[in-house]
Amino acid sequence: MICKQNRTALPALRSCNTAGMLACIRSAAVYGIEASTVAIEVDVSFGLPGFTVVGLPDASVRESRDRIKSAIRNSGFTFPRHRIIVNLAPADVRKAGSSFDLPIALGVLAASGAITRRDVDDVLVLGELSLDGAIQPARGVLPVAAAARSRKFKGLLLPEGNSREAAVVEGLDFYPVRSLTEAVDAINRPNPVVLTSEQQGESTEALHGDFADVRGQLLARRALEIAAAGAHNVLLSGAPGSGKTMMARRTAGILPPLTFDEALEVTAIHSVAGLLPDGRGLVRARPFRAPHHTVSDIALVGGGSNPRPGEISLAHQGVLFLDEMPEFSRHVLEVLRQPLEDGMVRIARAQRTCEFPARFVLIGAMNPCPCGYRGHERRVCRCTPHQIAGYESRLSGPLRDRIDLTVGVSALPPAELTGDAAGESTAAIRVRVQEARARQQARLSATGVSVNARLAPRILRTVCALDAGASRLLATAAERLDLSARGYDRILRVSRTIADLAGQERVSADHVAEALQFR
Ligand SMILES: Nc1ncnc2c1ncn2[C@@H]1O[C@H](COP(=O)(O)OP(=O)(O)O)[C@@H](O)[C@H]1O
Ligand SMILES: [Mg+2]
Repeated sequence: MICKQNRTALPALRSCNTAGMLACIRSAAVYGIEASTVAIEVDVSFGLPGFTVVGLPDASVRESRDRIKSAIRNSGFTFPRHRIIVNLAPADVRKAGSSFDLPIALGVLAASGAITRRDVDDVLVLGELSLDGAIQPARGVLPVAAAARSRKFKGLLLPEGNSREAAVVEGLDFYPVRSLTEAVDAINRPNPVVLTSEQQGESTEALHGDFADVRGQLLARRALEIAAAGAHNVLLSGAPGSGKTMMARRTAGILPPLTFDEALEVTAIHSVAGLLPDGRGLVRARPFRAPHHTVSDIALVGGGSNPRPGEISLAHQGVLFLDEMPEFSRHVLEVLRQPLEDGMVRIARAQRTCEFPARFVLIGAMNPCPCGYRGHERRVCRCTPHQIAGYESRLSGPLRDRIDLTVGVSALPPAELTGDAAGESTAAIRVRVQEARARQQARLSATGVSVNARLAPRILRTVCALDAGASRLLATAAERLDLSARGYDRILRVSRTIADLAGQERVSADHVAEALQFR
């Protein structure tokens, strides 16, 4: 039936024998984790058959011409044998990716008459086409849906595979489609679908394991609880098999559940990276990312000509675990420093700069020496002092300065590993972490940060009210241990979090003493 419309429309175009027909469809370009709208104007006119795309399309957009042609033909429409010019406006926004396939194809069909409405300006359209006319899920649908809503569009025409993700945004008419034919139908006879997003996701501990599985290791567990409570970065140093990976993974679960806004931001990052779990709506679980030590700097911090988030942004609001931290290349560890400080990464490109949020708890793990058995009770270490020093120096001073807690982890004796004394559960620890975070938030509400780890030195002194004993202990420690200014601040920050876990407004000597253990 649609083909018939098509056939009747083309003669009309032919008969007018003038400049041709123009159509306009709206879509959006995603940059960083934000989307901006793009108008797709298609002009079909007489002249030598051709298909040109102008308006700063990158190679991937220009490439889509052949896909569009095949998809149109294989869906039973006629591809106009005329001169086709597609203009993507505004021309100064770089357009990348394959999600312009569908809006361009619809524009061509509208300009050639297969679609009865030529100006579809109240609906945003995106989707990638296969040669047979099927529509593939696209990256970054959540930011596009959010942009559609904030720019007051009425609807969103999108790949069906992205519906769960888009449904997170309320107040839009959704047209989820599986093929070009369905998309044409949705424009000709709009019949919006009510989408409901799945609000319940898998819990973080179901995903990453429960702390109840971890036996013993009281000191490391305590360090990770403090880290979660104040969002401090931690370094675990211990022999292979001592449970470092196991505990790091479970730390994501003791962080408080994501708020809706946090979940939205996390979902947007994963949406842009094309990593949303199949058909899933909002990401509800705190992320846990563990890139291998051979990771490149771009894969770690993000980048590329059309910038994509890296591992540190995929870990946003969760845990970034760097196992065998000294094995990471020096350069990769260096590029980590700025985001650790700022909580986000800024990627500068000639046209514009984009920012990806990257606020995570860093958990580094390392062996105590290259062979891994220094200080082991039952095994012998064969490393020379020179080798050990070389290994340790691979973590530069400035990087260590950003790690508030360091804890040694020793392998459990076999008897304890097989015993049946279960550890405290993730849920129980999370309650304490949540309470400690609530206290920090209440205290810091005026400072613009919400966790102790992010306190600037200037504010740190004013919010860490030390009692007399704590002041004395800290002064003695500073002298004996020859603490640097940064080292001193670290102890102060960690003491503050320990006091918050204890529910105390004043930092006492006990809290400082415990913080000193984790140097
Ligand atoms: N404290 C522990 N409690 C329970 N199991 C443990 C513990 N430590 C180690 N294991 C077991 O040993 C395995 C290896 O631990 P892993 O976390 O990979 O060690 P690491 O990262 O320190 O090399 C774990 O999968 C777990 O089965
Ligand atoms: Mg490990």
